[in-house]
Amino acid sequence: QDNRFQAIIGHAKEYGFVFPSSEIYDGLSAVYDYGPYGSELKKNIRDYWWKSMTQMHDNIVGIDAAIFMHPTTWKASGHVDNFSDPMIDNKDSKKRYRVDHLIEGYAEQLKDKGNPEKAEAVLASMEALLAKDDFSGLKQLIDDHKIVCAISGTGNWTEIRQFNLMFSTQLGSVAEEADTIYLRPETAQGIFVNFLNVQKTARMKIPFGIAQTGKAFRNEIVARQFIFRMREFEQMEMQFFVRPGTQKEWYEYWREQRLNWHLSLGLPAEKYKWHVHAKPAHYADNAVDIEYEFPFGFKEVEGIHSRTDFDLSSHQKFSGKKMTYFDPEINQHYVPYVIETSIGLDRMFLLILSNSYEEETITKEDGSTDSRVVMHIPAKIAPIKLALFPLTKKDGLPELAKELMEECKPHFRCFYEEKDAIGKRYRRQDAIGTPFCVTVDHQTKEDGTVTLRNRDTMTQQRIHRSELKNEILKAIF
Ligand code: GAP
Repeated sequence: QDNRFQAIIGHAKEYGFVFPSSEIYDGLSAVYDYGPYGSELKKNIRDYWWKSMTQMHDNIVGIDAAIFMHPTTWKASGHVDNFSDPMIDNKDSKKRYRVDHLIEGYAEQLKDKGNPEKAEAVLASMEALLAKDDFSGLKQLIDDHKIVCAISGTGNWTEIRQFNLMFSTQLGSVAEEADTIYLRPETAQGIFVNFLNVQKTARMKIPFGIAQTGKAFRNEIVARQFIFRMREFEQMEMQFFVRPGTQKEWYEYWREQRLNWHLSLGLPAEKYKWHVHAKPAHYADNAVDIEYEFPFGFKEVEGIHSRTDFDLSSHQKFSGKKMTYFDPEINQHYVPYVIETSIGLDRMFLLILSNSYEEETITKEDGSTDSRVVMHIPAKIAPIKLALFPLTKKDGLPELAKELMEECKPHFRCFYEEKDAIGKRYRRQDAIGTPFCVTVDHQTKEDGTVTLRNRDTMTQQRIHRSELKNEILKAIF
């Protein structure tokens, strides 16, 4: 599985999906750039989420809030005081670890060495201690098991302490009276502080939701697993405001809706599972993750959180501004409760790459074998929907193919290529996940038909060129 993951990372770079940030300077840890096909795929995932959340739900509207927010926002939200992870440093290597990751790494080693019971016991102790914020207990666990740093090989550890994950910077020139402000660690707060602006201007009635996509920043200590855990990433969040007392049913509703969204992309249900949080984050009374089986195991891709009235009440307290809603149906003012759905766009992108990548061996008609790398990206979100090829560079075939391209390109992303043999051109499109290729040949000139080739089945059919656009539109809707 690790080889497969490395192959996916290599493929993502080679085919213009994801590059390390500022690579000419050897990159920046846990920061990545999206290339030509990556930026298309990322945009398509975002658009698919946006449409299903806003256009398909009459009671959800969108906003686009700023990354910078008034510093008090993060006091009220609890992030200044609580958004931290327990860390430990190795005194010899000076390497810093998140305590849970250090212990999890040790448990993995135990499993590899054929001792899964002991691994489970260590993980259970860790979870119990983390739930109580018992740092001396955690340190004892590390010492008792003689857990060592992978770099220095020693168990010479500092005490455990909290490390805040927010990035800070200065607003205005430092010479003037400067304020420390933060890069938002979640997009959600932009929605909470705008709750009444949105409710009033869009004339929303509870229950209703506000959706948003945008960058978030966390100074993750253990930055690993490619784009799974990044320092700059994008979230797609929706806060759903409900009448107090109804949060449980809305929580269940959104759990189901969100899993169905994943499955609506044709992703396999058996690769998904739920993880219920025994100790939800500081703002929530109920929390569940949607986990997907990445090449490195089941990991969180999305969270559904019942955030109570924590955020709105807290902003009401800190700002002195009323955050209540008047509910005409029951004739009452109240601070609404909130159900949140929060998914990482980059993590969803990695999920799509992981699920799509296949090194396939093909048996040809004559019995010989060939191989290809194919990305089975769901057609709805594939970077390129249709590649158009003239069989040869002459006899007016390029002109015909380009004519077809002009017809199709206002409707979906197309790609034209006339270089190399058709087989090679197919392979290049397979590698970037293009669901359809169409070839224009001499017969096209006679009867107007073209060959439409399917990426996944590799089957070909002849259709009339006038049907092409609608065939593709049907498949990508
Ligand atoms: N507003 C709630 C919130 O931010 P979270 O569980 O901390 O909750 C939500 O984050 C989602 O954001 C996660 O499920 C994950 O997909 C994504 N995410 C969080 N930290 C990330 C990181 N460092 N890199 C990439 N994605 C991240």
